[in-house]
Amino acid sequence: MADQPRGRFIAIEGIDGSGTTLQTRALADWLEGRGVSVLETREPSRAAIGRLIRERLAVRGTALDPAALALLFAADRIDHVMGEVVPALERGTVVLSDRYLLSSLAYQSLDCDAAWVREINARAPPPDLTLVLEVPAEVAFARVQRRAAEGGAVEERFDALALQQQIAANYRRFREGPGLGLTRVIDGDRPPEVVTAALCAALVEIGL
Ligand code: TMP
Repeated sequence: MADQPRGRFIAIEGIDGSGTTLQTRALADWLEGRGVSVLETREPSRAAIGRLIRERLAVRGTALDPAALALLFAADRIDHVMGEVVPALERGTVVLSDRYLLSSLAYQSLDCDAAWVREINARAPPPDLTLVLEVPAEVAFARVQRRAAEGGAVEERFDALALQQQIAANYRRFREGPGLGLTRVIDGDRPPEVVTAALCAALVEIGL
């Protein structure tokens, strides 16, 4: 067992409507097609704290104090990392997480001090690679609106164009900072298969 190579931990990031979920799925397919063992996961996680967060993010849910929400995201992250990510990495599995630390820096810093957000996430190990999907806020917002109109999405707390523009600015601000591993910014305002190809190239760059 000692010779088992450690897996890689990859975070896929971007504002709402940037395509993180679609592209995480596409990367999992691509890796599995190459015979790689993959754990496709997400934050907020599917476990108890993650489910609680989703409940509270739904606009009809009672609004939560921003600091309490930031702490919940951090708690969910530690639970997710210790319970799912680290064991998978130890088995040699590649972990793809639809959102991770950079989401907390970009979203929770809207209302909370950025240094504090970093501090409460200090136990979150840096991923090997953070992939940031860059899509203009207007384009991503139109995607989210379209999805909502088609009945495919629950409206959530951060769904407003002005907010998304601020979050996009926060992504640009924090993506060069510490704690994210190697970072690659990918133009996500292109046909999905072109974006997938660019993301795959970044995976090849780290030896996958
Ligand atoms: P989702 O759109 O990927 O399902 O994520 C739900 C929302 O949660 C999305 O608006 C981003 C937000 N979020 C944060 O505010 N902080 C975080 O740390 C994470 C992981 C997500």
